[in-house]
Amino acid sequence: MNYQTLTYDTFLGPFNHVGVAVPDIGRAVTMYRDVFGVRNITEPKAFPPQGVTYAFVNLPGGQVELIEPYGEASPILKFLERHPKGGQHHICFEVKDIHAASLAMSEKGVRVLDEPRIGAHGMPVVFLHPGDVGAVLIELMETPGGEH
Ligand code: CO
Repeated sequence: MNYQTLTYDTFLGPFNHVGVAVPDIGRAVTMYRDVFGVRNITEPKAFPPQGVTYAFVNLPGGQVELIEPYGEASPILKFLERHPKGGQHHICFEVKDIHAASLAMSEKGVRVLDEPRIGAHGMPVVFLHPGDVGAVLIELMETPGGEH
């Protein structure tokens, strides 16, 4: 993919999604359908590498990424222990180059929680330690298709 043509004014590209952890993804999908009338919601799908089952609530300005724990090692199990009913878990911004972004963050003293790996959107992602970036878990994701 060629990212040379991407022109972001800032380090961060477009907002992509808010991640919302839920104990029961079927109920969450039903809520978005019945309460808000959203029709464009993907079928819940297990994604073992990230320890989640996810569904995307597609809205004009971005997505809500519903995530339910998958497996005993799911990274969101602890979050749901603290917030049994679920809640806002992370926000995701796009970047042009995940490796460059990851390196730039490390050089600024921001803790990058893992090596880049493929996320639910099929693009490489990293997560930044909330303690270094305004008390919010931030996901950086390489722009899908590089078309922005
Ligand atoms: Co996400």
